[in-house]
Amino acid sequence: MIVITGATGTLNGAAVAHLLKRVPASQIGVSARNPQRAEHLADQGIRVRQGSYDDPAALRESFAGADQVLLVSSNDLAADVAAQHRQAIDAAVDAGARHILYTSQHAVGPDSPYLPQTIHAATEDHLAASGVAWTALRHGFYGTIGDLIGPWQTTGTIARPADGPFFWVDRRDAGEATAEILARGAAYNGPVDLTATAPVTLADFASAASELSGRDIDRIVVDDEQWVADEVAGGVPEPTARFTLSMFQALRTGRFSRSHSKLTELLGRKPRSLTEQLAEETSV
Ligand SMILES: NC(=O)c1ccc[n+]([C@@H]2O[C@H](COP(=O)([O-])OP(=O)(O)OC[C@H]3O[C@@H](n4cnc5c(N)ncnc54)[C@H](OP(=O)(O)O)[C@@H]3O)[C@@H](O)[C@H]2O)c1
Repeated sequence: MIVITGATGTLNGAAVAHLLKRVPASQIGVSARNPQRAEHLADQGIRVRQGSYDDPAALRESFAGADQVLLVSSNDLAADVAAQHRQAIDAAVDAGARHILYTSQHAVGPDSPYLPQTIHAATEDHLAASGVAWTALRHGFYGTIGDLIGPWQTTGTIARPADGPFFWVDRRDAGEATAEILARGAAYNGPVDLTATAPVTLADFASAASELSGRDIDRIVVDDEQWVADEVAGGVPEPTARFTLSMFQALRTGRFSRSHSKLTELLGRKPRSLTEQLAEETSV
């Protein structure tokens, strides 16, 4: 059996949807904090059990019988996320999993200025010490493009701090590649980079937005402290603004520029392009 956490979310929800095309529903289980949110999966014959990273006993019960366990990275900002990940890994080991997979991020490292990357690095260390075969799915950046580049349709600009090359992936592609890895069943025993074919910068987002809209969308580089001040003036709490700023600072280090063809190989096609994703998002 393959048990998946985060299946009520976008990334691992896509992984489950694609896994259903590859293995019978009776071989899939999900561990959900709120099983009611996974009723659509139970309706398709998937085993749904309650499990939270804060409750090791429930986690072990929800992982019982799993050969492979896919762990989503926690988005619980108020919690000790690294400790949650350690508990989830330990529960999978205790439940007898042969292969543990974890949704990490491209170019993680303890030296990154961006906190999630240091948490992913610590989690990968715990996986490596678990004694169980493991795979860290090092995805490129993903999410809602509008959250990253701001209200370009009304302002005609992408006004953000200085950035650097990074990989932007579609969560449906990332989920599909994850399903393929699960269906193949083989562990990488380490990290696997799941990036798009070429890195992008916010200037490329501006080009894609210009192409789509038929207008000139300018990329404006805003001074770091000015950007934080503008965000705070707009009602964003300062710690949140500084957290986002640290992501731009990490992009500038160049640590995200190295690409890998694994995502394309797993999909058997090119990943969805930035322009395709932006077109879909702006047509909604
Ligand atoms: N690489 C990137 O660029 C990037 C960007 C954004 C986020 N992320 C990370 O990637 C993860 C998946 O992304 P997504 O877009 O699928 O997010 P999402 O749609 O918000 O879904 C997150 C999923 O993780 C589950 N979850 C979160 N914290 C948990 C915990 N402590 N214990 C058990 N389940 C937990 C949620 O369960 P519930 O249904 O119970 O809430 C939900 O199913 C996020 O959780 C975040 O850590 C990465």
